[in-house]
Amino acid sequence: NELPLLDQFGRRHTNLRISVTDRCNIRCFYCMPAENVRFMNRRDLLSFEEIEQVVRLVVPLGVTKIRLTGGEPLVRRDLSELVRRLVAVPGVLDLGLTTNGILLEEQAESLYAAGLRRLNVSLDALSAEAFRLITRRDGYERVLAGIAAAQKVGFAPIKINAVAVRGLTESEIVPFAKFARESGCEVRFIEYMPLDADAAWERGKVLFASEIREILAQEFMPLEPVGEPHPEIPASEYVFADGVGRIGFIPSVSEPFCANCNRFRITADGKLRSCLFSLEETDLRSLLRGGASDTEMTNAVRACIHQKWAGHHINAADFVQPERPMYSIGG
Ligand code: GTP
Ligand code: 5AD
Ligand code: SF4
Repeated sequence: NELPLLDQFGRRHTNLRISVTDRCNIRCFYCMPAENVRFMNRRDLLSFEEIEQVVRLVVPLGVTKIRLTGGEPLVRRDLSELVRRLVAVPGVLDLGLTTNGILLEEQAESLYAAGLRRLNVSLDALSAEAFRLITRRDGYERVLAGIAAAQKVGFAPIKINAVAVRGLTESEIVPFAKFARESGCEVRFIEYMPLDADAAWERGKVLFASEIREILAQEFMPLEPVGEPHPEIPASEYVFADGVGRIGFIPSVSEPFCANCNRFRITADGKLRSCLFSLEETDLRSLLRGGASDTEMTNAVRACIHQKWAGHHINAADFVQPERPMYSIGG
């Protein structure tokens, strides 16, 4: 039972992303519909006890890295209580959280006190107007205040995730570069993927990492790669030639990292997914609530990973967008 979680391509699955809610306090167009979102029933969400049970189940299978996502994880009541539970699980070496930052100013201190150290904040633009256009809500100032509060309590380095969309992100590139240099945060550009609720994604709407890199080099100064590329980390990292300001790229569309994928995920309603783009899920919640033994659940996890495909088909003619959009899968 102590064998690693291998799939048919020999990829070891050491990184579990856990969605704690599908609810969110903003409405980014690349993820959610603008209005009338149908959220999960509260009783369908895994409880903190159940999430901890899942983590205790997969750690002996070699999972060392956990990331909490959503929806917006900070809208889940008492999230720092979950953090406290998970950092206490022996074998959890790395716990991270990805948030939109709206509620971060209030919660940064309690999250840090609970033991969280790694924090990624999603922010796609550096002006209130562009923020409103993308998120269809106000809150830009709160996100900035949240980042500042998080830095103050000791989170470092914080990574900022900006989804790169053609026609929107171009004007943000230089401001983000300045922000990276001044704040010490690493800014990462993530290629827009077809996981939006409105199914409006088109390849032509993706602003490619290579294009952003060129714009930065031309309008700013050259970027130099940081260290050795790490095959299991999708972001390639760069620093400006003068040593100040870190910039990363997650080119999931133009240069998929599937061949080195070590990730799987569990949705807030307890369905295991071997890939962001999976069309099938494993209902772990039914097993948990149905009194399945640890062996039965471990076998279900192994089977889920075993049937994982080689990679997503975004770039192929047979691509099928999953039924669940990003907020429901977990970012
Ligand atoms: P660390 O490297 O641990 O800091 O975290 P991370 O980069 O894995 O986490 P984060 O939640 O910040 O994810 C960054 C972006 O990567 C997300 O916005 C997703 O769009 C993308 N991403 C995350 N997981 C996957 C995945 O399994 N497949 C693909 N193709 N993209 C992913
Ligand atoms: N394409 C790329 N990234 C996305 N995210 C959400 N939806 C998409 C999408 N369609 C990002 C969020 C957040 C992360 C968890 O996922 O901006 O940074
Ligand atoms: Fe892994 Fe699927 Fe993401 Fe590719 S798309 S990196 S296979 S989870």
